[in-house]
Amino acid sequence: MTSTPIPATPDTGPDPAELASLAESVAVEAGELALRHRRMGIELAGTKSSRSDVVTAADLAVEQLIRDRIAAARPGDTVLGEEGGSQPGAAGTSGGSPAAAVSWVVDPIDGTVNYVYGIPAWSVSIAVAVGGQVMAGAVVNPMTGEVFTASAGGGASLNGAPLRRGGDVPDLAVALVGTGFGYTAANRAVDGWVVGELLPQVRDIRRIGSASLDLCMVATGQLDAYYERGLNPWDHAAGGLVAAEAGYTVAGLAGAPAGRAFLLAASLGLWEPLHDSLATLFADPRGTRPAA
Ligand code: IPD
Ligand code: CA
Repeated sequence: MTSTPIPATPDTGPDPAELASLAESVAVEAGELALRHRRMGIELAGTKSSRSDVVTAADLAVEQLIRDRIAAARPGDTVLGEEGGSQPGAAGTSGGSPAAAVSWVVDPIDGTVNYVYGIPAWSVSIAVAVGGQVMAGAVVNPMTGEVFTASAGGGASLNGAPLRRGGDVPDLAVALVGTGFGYTAANRAVDGWVVGELLPQVRDIRRIGSASLDLCMVATGQLDAYYERGLNPWDHAAGGLVAAEAGYTVAGLAGAPAGRAFLLAASLGLWEPLHDSLATLFADPRGTRPAA
């Protein structure tokens, strides 16, 4: 008698939807802690890349809470956080191999300057990558109660309602474009020049102050596009997935993936002209190249 072999179940890794739901619940709880700290008053804990790049006691406490919750739920996973850097899981590499390793990318408070000044545009941002690919993410704005969630291939949602791209913006001249600036003076001088050159080409510019929320605002249609250079992974990992899963193109310059060098999110029709305009401007910072 021959027996039918039982097909091996391929190890597909953790379910992105489950990762998204864990990211969401941790981000919601973390947002509540950040709000409680805000009500008690701001306690500055230090500065980072420049005097304007502040860290509050809340940034540290919120990141610790997120690390504790992730360690309890998934003890093998690595956590990369804005304040504490990369820390491997206590239970060894999750997933068994680097290709399947699960790492969490955490910004405890994205928009810390807004948080300090009481401007209601800051978020808790948590993404989960498997083998380096972002598979799930959540961005929570505790001031507005907005909870953005996305999983790779599973779509994006705002407070449970699916987010889907509306119509394409016909051209640059009617596009509302968000951007942001890192904290170093030299980069800001270039970024400011680029914005000055772009402004006459578009409907208007917004600088919200939280990269993750900028990306979610592209997903909701509150911004037509958003670009920034110099972002760290925790600034854009979760929000980038929300925008991509809502149907927007999120990428870097000249075919590169979105990353520290550059990120542009927009609907496809707008992405190309905006990309070309920005590529030209950043290639000639401050217009120093003599006209041909
Ligand atoms: C910053 C915000 C800001 C962006 C900066 C980020 P932080 O993050 O996202 O909008 O322009 O590049 O560093 O410091 O508030 O977490
Ligand atoms: Ca940030």
